[in-house]
Amino acid sequence: MRILVTGGAGFIGAHTSKALAAAGHEPIVFDNLSTGHRWAVKWGPFEYGDLLDRAALIDVMRRHRVEAVLHFAALSSVGESNIRPDVYYRTNVLGTLSVLDAMKDAGVGQIILSSSCAVYGIPEKIPIDESALTDPINPYGSSKLMAEKMLGDYARAFNLAAVALRYFNAAGADPDGDVGEEHSPETHLIPSVLQVASGIRDYVNVFGSNYKTLDGTCVRDYVHVSDLANGHVSALTSFKFGEFRSFNLSSGCGYSVNQIIDRARFITNKEINTRILNNRMGDPPVLYANSNLAKSEINWIAKRSDIDTIISDAWSWISHHRFKVVCS
Ligand code: UFG
Repeated sequence: MRILVTGGAGFIGAHTSKALAAAGHEPIVFDNLSTGHRWAVKWGPFEYGDLLDRAALIDVMRRHRVEAVLHFAALSSVGESNIRPDVYYRTNVLGTLSVLDAMKDAGVGQIILSSSCAVYGIPEKIPIDESALTDPINPYGSSKLMAEKMLGDYARAFNLAAVALRYFNAAGADPDGDVGEEHSPETHLIPSVLQVASGIRDYVNVFGSNYKTLDGTCVRDYVHVSDLANGHVSALTSFKFGEFRSFNLSSGCGYSVNQIIDRARFITNKEINTRILNNRMGDPPVLYANSNLAKSEINWIAKRSDIDTIISDAWSWISHHRFKVVCS
């Protein structure tokens, strides 16, 4: 299939472009490079453009005779979304609306949305399944839930086939070293911890130590980015026109912030200094999920998401990448 990958220069979009190409599809990347990287577009044509430019989206969809859209382009930092809700709603909600309208005009009928565990807010039951209440506690999660609702309404009204994949914490890097995580500034836990191990930072902040968890720090479900990428390839075969469906993509295991730091010390064999700060606004204490629905409906299971593999792959990437930066 010819597939438009919005945000294909970003972390998950680039890994998914690689997986799409390996499965025989053609990924056409549409990205404004605001957070993504041109060097990460390696598996198909690149179209520079902004999500809110509907005419540009329609033009790209028509020129490349696009058959489906994988919509990754979005802002994704929980902390930042509390400070800049305006920017988050504009990019994530209006951006998705623009993509859906462009699809309608260009006659493209299939879409997969990058959604998030943030749509659940503070879950009543752990592990989380898709029947759980959606009640986000930060603007990022709200923006993703609004985007999901739009997909549902458009699917029913305009006979689209629409899927939302609710990722838990994306981490790791391509095992072949072709692509990895590079945000500026980096705010996510695992790359921040590994930046300390590699000497780029002096310490990692621990946001809160008084949660009601095993060791007082937040628990998250880390899922390997290559597994997420394969989840999109699997979901492409399960489209149903006129329907919207959502699936958790998770490892099924929860690790605390302190446990992640300990595993990173072990894997890198480096000292990792920490600094304990207050809780970060909008952080649920515990999030982990089952992905049974994804297993039964789209034939997906996480294969590379044990925590040591995730950290090792991210460590290989950061070590290699830093070397390149130092030498260039
Ligand atoms: N954390 C720290 N120190 C840091 C960075 C993070 O203690 O320097 C903690 C956070 O408070 C959180 C955990 O580590 O408890 C993971 O934080 P990340 O920033 O790596 O990821 P988030 O859990 O905030 O965000 C991720 C995804 C979002 C998703 C969200 C749902 O990036 O897309 O999970 O909570 F929506």
